Amino acid sequence: MALSCLSGIIALVLLVAIADSAHGLCSLGGSWRSEHGTLMTMRLGVNGTITGTYQSSSKAPTSVLIGYQQQGDNPTFGVTVKNSAAPTITMLAGQCYTKPDGEPTLRTTWILREPVGNLTEDWKSSRFGTASFSMNDNVNGEAAGQWTGGQSQIHRTPKPAEGKVRS
Ligand SMILES: *[C@@H]1O[C@H](CO)[C@@H](O)[C@H](O)[C@H]1NC(C)=O
Ligand SMILES: *[C@@H]1O[C@H](CO)[C@@H](O)[C@H](O)[C@H]1NC(C)=O
Repeated sequence: MALSCLSGIIALVLLVAIADSAHGLCSLGGSWRSEHGTLMTMRLGVNGTITGTYQSSSKAPTSVLIGYQQQGDNPTFGVTVKNSAAPTITMLAGQCYTKPDGEPTLRTTWILREPVGNLTEDWKSSRFGTASFSMNDNVNGEAAGQWTGGQSQIHRTPKPAEGKVRS
């Protein structure tokens, strides 16, 4: 009787532990790699602040990022990247999830804004798309060899019809 009670408690503790790992806090801190080859590191600061680095491929220079996360087990977050290779700004908004296998993943929507010559060209300033990130194996962000940025589905805002450009 005592034995079956004990094994029952052990089974319960194990179940709770498994449930915890599947539904526990998804933390944004660490080194992340996207399916397109982007490497992103995030350090969590006070009051939901985020600082880190962003590298679109192994050959691209490293840029800095700054942002915020919200509270919650699956926190939403947003970061701004000041690209060091070009006078462009990339912003990512996303959420952290824990997959059924226990691995964390980030699902993000990004928008890249590049400067254009004048207001007439404004319609072609922005590109946007989605990216999924997994934890990078090497916490120091050193890639095991080279990697290249894969092709992602990039969207653009449509060119306005002739004579419809607002100033
Ligand atoms: C964090 O937020 C609290 C409440 O808004 C504020 O009082 C505190 O100064 C903040 N801390 C830092 C380091 O910004
Ligand atoms: C805007 O800039 C583009 C590219 O630099 C140029 O071809 C175009 O003539 C400019 N348009 C105006 C109205 O200045």
